[in-house]
Amino acid sequence: MNKRKYFNNGLPLLMLVGIILLGSCSKKEDTFVNRKVSFNSDWSFHLNDSITDKDTIGTSTKWRTLNVPHDWSIEGKFDEKSPAGYGGGALNGGLGWYKKTFRVAAADSSKVTSITFDGVYKNSEVWINGHYLGKRPNGYIGFQYEMSPYLNYGDQNNEIIVKVDNSKQPNSRWYSGSGIFRNVWIETTDKLHVGQWGTYITTPKVTAEKASVKVETTIQNQYSESKKATVTTTIFKDDSKVTSFTQNITIAANTNQTIQQEAQVETPVLWSVEKPELYTAVTEISLDGALIDSYKTNFGIRDFKFDTDKGFILNGKQVKIKGVCMHHDLGPLGSAINTRAIERQLEILKEMGVNGIRTSHNPPAPELLELCDKMGFIVMDEAFDMWKQNKTKYDYGNDWDKWHKKDLTDQLLRDRNHPSIFMWSIGNEIPEQWNENGVTIAKELAAITRQYDKTRPITAAMNPPVNMNLDGVNLQFEKAAVQYNKIAASGALDIIGYNYAHQTYEYHKKNFPGIPFIATETTSGLQTRGYYDAVSDTIKKWPVRWDLKFTGGNPGNTVSAYDQVQAPWGSTHEATWKVIKKHDFLSGMYIWTGFDYIGEPTPYEWPSISSYFGIVDLAGFPKDVYYMYQSEWTDKTVLHILPHWNWKAGQNVDVWAYYNKADEVELFLNGKSVGIRSKKGEDLHVMWRIPFQAGTLKAVSRKNGKIVLETEIKTAGNPSNLKLTADRSTINADGNDLSFVTVDILDEKGVLAPNANNEINFSLKGNGKIVGVCSGDPVSHESYKGTKHTALNGKCLVVIQSGDTSGRLELTSKANGLKPATIVITAE
Ligand code: GAL
Repeated sequence: MNKRKYFNNGLPLLMLVGIILLGSCSKKEDTFVNRKVSFNSDWSFHLNDSITDKDTIGTSTKWRTLNVPHDWSIEGKFDEKSPAGYGGGALNGGLGWYKKTFRVAAADSSKVTSITFDGVYKNSEVWINGHYLGKRPNGYIGFQYEMSPYLNYGDQNNEIIVKVDNSKQPNSRWYSGSGIFRNVWIETTDKLHVGQWGTYITTPKVTAEKASVKVETTIQNQYSESKKATVTTTIFKDDSKVTSFTQNITIAANTNQTIQQEAQVETPVLWSVEKPELYTAVTEISLDGALIDSYKTNFGIRDFKFDTDKGFILNGKQVKIKGVCMHHDLGPLGSAINTRAIERQLEILKEMGVNGIRTSHNPPAPELLELCDKMGFIVMDEAFDMWKQNKTKYDYGNDWDKWHKKDLTDQLLRDRNHPSIFMWSIGNEIPEQWNENGVTIAKELAAITRQYDKTRPITAAMNPPVNMNLDGVNLQFEKAAVQYNKIAASGALDIIGYNYAHQTYEYHKKNFPGIPFIATETTSGLQTRGYYDAVSDTIKKWPVRWDLKFTGGNPGNTVSAYDQVQAPWGSTHEATWKVIKKHDFLSGMYIWTGFDYIGEPTPYEWPSISSYFGIVDLAGFPKDVYYMYQSEWTDKTVLHILPHWNWKAGQNVDVWAYYNKADEVELFLNGKSVGIRSKKGEDLHVMWRIPFQAGTLKAVSRKNGKIVLETEIKTAGNPSNLKLTADRSTINADGNDLSFVTVDILDEKGVLAPNANNEINFSLKGNGKIVGVCSGDPVSHESYKGTKHTALNGKCLVVIQSGDTSGRLELTSKANGLKPATIVITAE
């Protein structure tokens, strides 16, 4: 086996790339040629808005070393006057430079070496050894440059420079982050190799007995002579070989050739939400008897359709899409992607019963799609938030003419093997939907999409294509079929998708006969986690219009967390779900949003800097409505009561309970029953209005008189202790893995102090770092990157990242007047 060496600033970084003798592999890892290695470590970074020229930046001495993925905006201060605006989270963009010095083994001089960036926000330009490789305005799509013609081999250094220009603001309606915020890879291949995103695997016929698997492989010959080669594709289920097929090809010099191979898989194990079973295709190219390239593609076998009567059918079964929209930021980590952080978000959502993710409003990090494949989510993969017509002054609309074809094509090629993707969305609330350009562009995008993938339907997240008008803060809907939305009327879409207007869903069949429906975006409920107006229906002062000044709301821009506050264009959580639940033909919904995100606060004004829309807050702590969904969407037995139990004596407090699997709930205050409640009809919660009395509030759910669950909350005394709980107490010592540690502020009896907002200081011993702190408070301007943070309503989060050696990581938290707490995390 050959060993290739890359040198990082003189430090050897071993990478195993092999040339292995021919022989069709029988185990997946037997003979794999690993062509891709991480190129994330030891970059130098310099932020400087005034130096715009590569030759000048080359001489700057103010570089700092870091690993990518990196987001420089999250390191900055929240700034009321930031040109990014509140939409952008009041965090600045700017112009950043990255560079990295490395060596390439002499043996690789006969190979093809490329660099792949999974996403750089935005306007990246790349030079290798002074040679310009290119520019990519779109921050969300991956791109690759071949470097081999310009590389030095052996003992000589190479220098790569990346300019990232996110200085023109605003260019996004939400927080984008800035920099090389996704992974970077080096790919080294023989001159004859599978091309970039070079396989396309479809399963045209799927039955319980048999599935046909069609593999299209694009092979690139970069030799200056024609080559005769053998291409073998082996399909694995887990580690066992299922089938393989071989084809001999002759491929002319400097050309690409696409070959098609097809096989039958007997009794296929189908991909589903509950059991997301994956297969792997390993494509191997052999030349003159030697294996020269291996390329791995994960795929799934599943059969689905969107039906006008039955909604979404997966493997013959009706499945309601219970989805959420997600932006790409990871709360306190900003937009620098981390696989574990995405996985944690998905775990929290899965636990709530979510089975769908909409990648609003851009191509996501590849790792999100890989996780959705493995964890079982129904993904709506979205391409654009705007077409040519801008939404903000410097956004992608300015790049549309030159780049949209390439960006969409690359997204399709990159993503089309993911079994979790079930729909392509060609845009979100596109301004052209109201004029004829909408028809032309929708048709063009649909044609591009169908050129690369005919196996999935196309939709768009339109504004409601039915008549409506904004009357003060209320939308008025005319329920008659008035299809004046040009995209909807263009015929380009396979599924009608629109945002909000749940009042109109039941008229869909009349409005759009014969075409299925998906609620692409719903709800936009607003809540601050753990904050409540004691009497839930006195909050009519909310909502405020996003585009009006905030007047007369709650102090400090808090929003009561009973499910009663919504953006004027949306609904409460319960209202939309009740409609979706009722009608079979409604395929499902994607709620705005699963998690809070940075930017787009509503109220759209200082001091708010992050959103209130999430069912889960920015730190990852569920708001109460999470349990409404859990009671409806999962098999778990649920009984959740809200609010907390710290109020003024005698004041009326509304107590809500979310429950399932029971026919009644009885509430006891200090041992005395205050009544039995049952959900009637479409109800999704029950409520008691009772005068507050300190002590214990206990709820008991019962079915046929037998206790199903009991839960209680108690009045907390003064904050006294800190408690630390890690989501994982053993993490990988790979310099990347994370432990998310929850800090609870408790009274001396161990009851959560629901109003505590102490400032907490953190320190860490051992080879690791504190990489994020966050309370989920949308008005906090404390840095997420510090080592102290103020709790919100008794809770805070601290994120620990391992170093690259194993050992103990000891985290201590301290706050004035409270007993400190320590927790040990093991990195191994
Ligand atoms: C929608 C839009 C989303 C987000 C949301 C907030 O109209 O598509 O991007 O802005 O409103 O409610």
